[in-house]
Amino acid sequence: MNDTRIHPLVLFMPSGKRGRFPVGTPVLDAARQLGVYVESVCGGRATCGRCQVSVQEGNFAKHGITSSDDHLSAIGPKEERYDRVRGLPEGRRLSCSALIQGDLVIDVPQDTVINAQVVRKAADERVFDRNAAIRMCYVEVEEPDMEKPLGDLDRLKAALAADWHFDELDVDFHLIPRVQSILRKGEWKVTAGIHKDGEDDRPRLIALYPGLKNEAYGIACDIGSTTIAMHLSSLLSGRTVASAGTSNPQIRFGEDLMSRVSYVMMNPDGREAMTAAVREALNGLIDQVCIEGGVSRTDILDSVFVGNPIMHHLFLGIDPTELGGAPFALAVSGAVKVKSSEIGLSMNEGTRTYVLPCIAGHVGADAAAATLSEGPHRQDEMMLLVDIGTNAEIVLGNRTRVLAASSPTGPAFEGAEISSGQRAAPGAIERVRIDPVTLEPRFRVIGVEPWSNEPGFAEAAAATGVTGICGSGIIEVIAEMYLAGIISEDGVVDGTLAGRSPRILPNGRTFSYLLHDGEPLITVTQNDVRAIQLAKAALYAGVKLLMDKQGVTEVDRIGLAGAFGTFIDPKYAMVLGLIPDCDLSKVKAVGNAAGTGARMCLLNRGYRREIEETVRRIDKIETALEPRFQEHFVAAMALPNKIDPFPNLSAVVTLPERKVLADAAGEGGARRRRRSRD
Ligand code: FES
Repeated sequence: MNDTRIHPLVLFMPSGKRGRFPVGTPVLDAARQLGVYVESVCGGRATCGRCQVSVQEGNFAKHGITSSDDHLSAIGPKEERYDRVRGLPEGRRLSCSALIQGDLVIDVPQDTVINAQVVRKAADERVFDRNAAIRMCYVEVEEPDMEKPLGDLDRLKAALAADWHFDELDVDFHLIPRVQSILRKGEWKVTAGIHKDGEDDRPRLIALYPGLKNEAYGIACDIGSTTIAMHLSSLLSGRTVASAGTSNPQIRFGEDLMSRVSYVMMNPDGREAMTAAVREALNGLIDQVCIEGGVSRTDILDSVFVGNPIMHHLFLGIDPTELGGAPFALAVSGAVKVKSSEIGLSMNEGTRTYVLPCIAGHVGADAAAATLSEGPHRQDEMMLLVDIGTNAEIVLGNRTRVLAASSPTGPAFEGAEISSGQRAAPGAIERVRIDPVTLEPRFRVIGVEPWSNEPGFAEAAAATGVTGICGSGIIEVIAEMYLAGIISEDGVVDGTLAGRSPRILPNGRTFSYLLHDGEPLITVTQNDVRAIQLAKAALYAGVKLLMDKQGVTEVDRIGLAGAFGTFIDPKYAMVLGLIPDCDLSKVKAVGNAAGTGARMCLLNRGYRREIEETVRRIDKIETALEPRFQEHFVAAMALPNKIDPFPNLSAVVTLPERKVLADAAGEGGARRRRRSRD
């Protein structure tokens, strides 16, 4: 018999890993040998159902494989019993029981749902390869014997070594007083929760359940300075079973990050108060996701957190004062691993917490998580990733080199410093169009379906009112004012248009544009335009510095992260010169990329190593120290830019002719220093 007959070829999808195995090898063993992740809790007893796979039938010429269902052994009694008791979906096999008989293409489904969990759409349902830091391992332990006076825990360890090859196992102390009662409750059958993060770490028994415990959960959480978002996922199936969010209670100590650092500096127990506040909110969210997901908090065994450097420090109980000024020294930049109970989080007593590394003193673990999620370091294209908050975090790179910086944009994009600015909430203007001939505007308000010039608007807006302009609305109104010729490329409101349109109103020595003639009156003032110019110039100058360092004059792809990035229209962001010129079809909102990165690290510890390594390699650029920052900043005050061409943008939008107007307010120029940061 030739080798191919006695050693059939098995290809696992979607990983593409392949190898030859002796006839009669269980598919699960083959997967293990190739490093293909297939879950197993019962250790091949055909009771947990976690190891399901299916056969792709057909002739796969590219791989030289003809794969067929009957290249697996027939369904045996154990598998038949599982199917009868628990039910196996059509076409699925238990890989611990199915034996290789011939060439196969095996599909490892990423969605093995055992307890029919509700699928949540709230979390980005990207599916990731799983390789969690927690394994659930069922064992049957020898009963005590007077002849062999080995302790209960020691016989449990022996069983885990025999069945699961955990030869050197550490044990969390909190389990030792409980081990006897759990073993007896389970009638010597128990499921061990084993934690092993790094390849060189010793495995550690952190939880123990009587009987077969066929589920374990983890939480992934993004601690933003304004909002905190948490997802509860099954560590075994990867599914997100519940999501919840809340505003960060630290807001009562200070709206922006710098005011929170000041609070710590001014108040002796300020740090403690803010740490307690965020941990209390996190425990509240854990309660919420558990109730929503129908999960006990003691079933949560792992957790991953991300946040900007100041949130990161306050969460871990570290004084953030050093982050308040140059050289912005982090107490710790590498990943932090800690027992969750040590940082006041109440889940299982053995639950572990992993906090992603911070990139620099003002580019945090949230930016690291967003980088992991969007993967500039995994691609050839030069990708720009921007998270716009009070401080913009900027990452630019490809597989050769990745750079990161932050830029002090200030709070203008969030509606602060803008005369009619407000946070995105019902009643806020979020979209604006201006007729270039009549200069009449039409707009859309959050929570109201019709545009302001459409029938039914007044009735629909009666409930919310028209209360102000949010970040995306500010971007659009200023870009539209520029496209309609109301402001020059230098951002000066053209007062000569007052004769043509009642919308142009004198305002001291400058002019304003009347956007909403109602209660309240909503205008865009010269100062508003300036505030946005300063903010966007700071962001663009930061981006340009990174482009200089990379030696590129254009980027291939742009990802706009965070809530603001989700709602701004890339076209208007480009008209304003907030982001560099790029093919518009390659500018995408990437949502809560930081939360996605956290979830990746929860479900696969390989991603933890990937981001730790990537962060070590990222070149950190301190914008304030770069001599060219001012030069880029001055050029970027113009719309879209004084120097840089925007060919991609010009192909889809007719940019106005240059018109130079005197800056009556005498403002502008590059007068900006680093200040509040987010
Ligand atoms: Fe549990 Fe196969 S490993 S059913």
